Amino acid sequence: MIATRLHPDKQSAAQAIAREIAELIELRSKSGKSTVLGLATGSTPLPLYAELIRLHREEKRSFRSVITFNLDEYEGLGPTHPQSYRRFMEEHLFRHLDIPAANIHIPDGLSKQTERNCADYEASIRAAGGIDLQVLGIGRTGHIGFNEPPSAADSRTRRVQLDEVTRRDNSVFFGDVTEVPHGALTMGVGTILEARRIELLAFGEAKADIIRRAIQEAPSPGCPATWLQRHAACTFHLDAAAAKSL
Ligand code: PGA
Repeated sequence: MIATRLHPDKQSAAQAIAREIAELIELRSKSGKSTVLGLATGSTPLPLYAELIRLHREEKRSFRSVITFNLDEYEGLGPTHPQSYRRFMEEHLFRHLDIPAANIHIPDGLSKQTERNCADYEASIRAAGGIDLQVLGIGRTGHIGFNEPPSAADSRTRRVQLDEVTRRDNSVFFGDVTEVPHGALTMGVGTILEARRIELLAFGEAKADIIRRAIQEAPSPGCPATWLQRHAACTFHLDAAAAKSL
């Protein structure tokens, strides 16, 4: 069952989710527990990350007890590559917060032992106690993370081939589509579904059709986001444009 929450704009959505994350961290750290966050990249979570940074700077919220796992990384891009997700996260979130460096996990795009590294990534999530709250975007192909169609409900962290629609959509960050890698490493749908709570964000008219499909189509590998219907605590945070086909 997917819950939907309509927000007046993306800033309001960002404020609501940032507040929820801050409260979760505070509650858990009161009993000495860390908080495990699953994090996403792309344009959609940027207002959320800006709001988390504001909470840290202005409201003195600490993120020292946070452990993070990013959803995905481009294959072949190292941490210093301007378009790598490691670099994206450093710039837009990590260097502004006090999360200990050892608590930050992002799949290694340069890994030569992909299968082993993907299995290790899964093991690290389990060792951390599982993901408490997963932040998600959605691609126009229905991907969550980089789980392009077809992706099974029980897929795990692995190497995937990017859809050409995704490569074109993401070429805005690279300047030219030929620069966008063809492969990526991503948490699987099964990995994502194990998060205790999922907050998906989608804004703008370009997402309206895929939001309708994710909520209304029967779950299938052809639209990986439909698997979220099987999650017990998944909320789609939308603006009016993204919700217009519901
Ligand atoms: P976007 O990407 O935030 O840049 O639209 C979302 C996604 O591909 O998951």
